[in-house]
Amino acid sequence: MFEEDRFVTSSKLDMDSEENSLRPKSFDEYVGQKKMKDNLRVFIEASKKRGEALDHVLLYGPPGLGKTTMSHIIANELGVQLRITSGPAIERAADLAAILTNLNENDVLFVDEIHRLNRAVEEILYPAMEDFALDIVIGKGPSARSMRLSLPHFTLIGATTRAGMLTGPLRDRFGVICRLELYAPNELAQIIRRSSEILNIKIDEDACLDIASRSRGTPRIANRLLKRVGDFAIVMGENKINKKVTDHALEHLEVDSLGLDYTDRKILDAMILKFNGGPVGLDTLAAATNEEAVTIEDVVEPFLLQLGFISRTPRGRVAMPAAYKHIGVPMSEAAMAQISLFDKVSDDE
Ligand SMILES: Nc1ncnc2c1ncn2[C@@H]1O[C@H](COP(=O)(O)OP(=O)(O)O)[C@@H](O)[C@H]1O
Ligand SMILES: [Mg+2]
Repeated sequence: MFEEDRFVTSSKLDMDSEENSLRPKSFDEYVGQKKMKDNLRVFIEASKKRGEALDHVLLYGPPGLGKTTMSHIIANELGVQLRITSGPAIERAADLAAILTNLNENDVLFVDEIHRLNRAVEEILYPAMEDFALDIVIGKGPSARSMRLSLPHFTLIGATTRAGMLTGPLRDRFGVICRLELYAPNELAQIIRRSSEILNIKIDEDACLDIASRSRGTPRIANRLLKRVGDFAIVMGENKINKKVTDHALEHLEVDSLGLDYTDRKILDAMILKFNGGPVGLDTLAAATNEEAVTIEDVVEPFLLQLGFISRTPRGRVAMPAAYKHIGVPMSEAAMAQISLFDKVSDDE
């Protein structure tokens, strides 16, 4: 199954086109992520008082948690322009040089999927981030010389789902590093309530909480489910989303009571039935389920980890008792022994 075909995927789909209208525009509208917001508020205020560009910011975490949204808010609060690009979009060093020289003083440059920058481009970025300078080589062969151009002071905001894939030198050049966490159901309920007002969809409090707790901790999925369940309400002739509509719609969409879909269940089934609960390596699991390792790691695992359904051990992933319970398979003694073994290892560490 392609990630794009998966309804509860946290990657952006075409049906998320209204995303811009739902995007919070200020810190106050941005729900949750308190630690990140508190920190950023302080740094933004300080940089405004000093009249200097904000330090470079790295935002990392699974897709759909609000990285792009936060970069808009930061630029808004700073009162500067936001220039948006992405790692794969910048093919050549010259492309990045052109972007950098066109920035205004204190502007924000947002680079999405920054872990996908190529090496040559990344090397341009080092002096740009550190010294606001661009090193260019003029001429070829023995007569070639290097020249340093100065750039406007700017703030780079990098977003990535995989901080671990960033090179050390790039990571070190970010002064502020923020990790976004999956959202709690009450936070998602708040997001759904706000979106339902913007989209003019009526929804019960119960239904709101129900959708929230089935959104995999992800605002993008919460908004998507709200819209689709809203469609079901219309077709069912209900003037409001209520528990009946939600249950019917989510069953139809194959999203279970915890928000797990076909792909999640397939991964859990494979771990439990094919690999006796693990430990199983990521690539083996990917091959056995016909999913991409990246998808499993970025999209499926964070939520299963949060639910306590799986655990990462030095030898691979293991399925935890809660996963067996949800799937409805009794846990073998061998699997139980595996888990207590790993508990011991982590206690000793
Ligand atoms: N903290 C939040 N509060 C309210 N809505 C949010 C929040 N974070 C994300 N969203 C919603 O989820 C959608 C996806 O967020 P986005 O910033 O595009 O995620 P990311 O860039 O991390 O993949 C946004 O359009 C926005 O409507
Ligand atoms: Mg984004």
